[in-house]
Amino acid sequence: MTDDAAAVAAFIQARLPVTPVPGLPQLCLHKADPASGVGRLADTAPYWAYWWAGGLALARHLLAHPHLVAGRRVFDLGAGSGLVGIAAARAGAAIVTASEIDVHARTAIGLNAALNQVAIAAIVGDCTAGPVPDVDLLLVGDVFYAPDVAARVIDFLDRCVAAGVEVLVGDPGRAPLPLERLTLLASYEVAEAGTARRAGVFAYRAA
Ligand SMILES: C[S@@+](CC[C@H](N)C(=O)[O-])C[C@H]1O[C@@H](n2cnc3c(N)ncnc32)[C@H](O)[C@@H]1O
Repeated sequence: MTDDAAAVAAFIQARLPVTPVPGLPQLCLHKADPASGVGRLADTAPYWAYWWAGGLALARHLLAHPHLVAGRRVFDLGAGSGLVGIAAARAGAAIVTASEIDVHARTAIGLNAALNQVAIAAIVGDCTAGPVPDVDLLLVGDVFYAPDVAARVIDFLDRCVAAGVEVLVGDPGRAPLPLERLTLLASYEVAEAGTARRAGVFAYRAA
């Protein structure tokens, strides 16, 4: 499939139905269904096309506790579809930046932000190799899904916390989750791929 953003946007709008967010019906996103054929878009899994328990829990938490983001500069690491950043913006964040390594996610985030009438700046690339972003709060929804990814993210989060950035993590307890760095704040029953599971929201502290 083409890398042309306009063609990808047309594909998403035509093939990925606008779907209410499970547990957050005030938000909706383009998500894949069995007829979408998202495998045609890329060789790698289009994570942004699916629901993830950690992002669902973190989005729920932000909308239930808007003081966590109100008026703050927020960075959504591994934003996928943009769900967590969209929830932050709806909860009153001043500026939301979404970071992804998947170029098609940037297109999906743009469409989803518009659907939910919020503004999000989406950047593409591995931000974990770069400097600490100039933000107040870093949000990490379900990014501890593989050991190599988790190792890079932990190093980056340690640097962010050392620089004074607050970090919140949403995760259902996947294998590489660094539990020794996390304090549980809340947990939510969420629906990931139609299956109910419990996911936590954690404050992250450096080692
Ligand atoms: C399981 S998905 C979760 C997406 C979203 N946060 C949510 O909860 O719906 C993890 C995402 O992290 C992205 N990702 C992995 N490593 C990354 C990195 N170094 N920088 C930015 N995004 C990254 C992947 O492309 C993927 O879209």
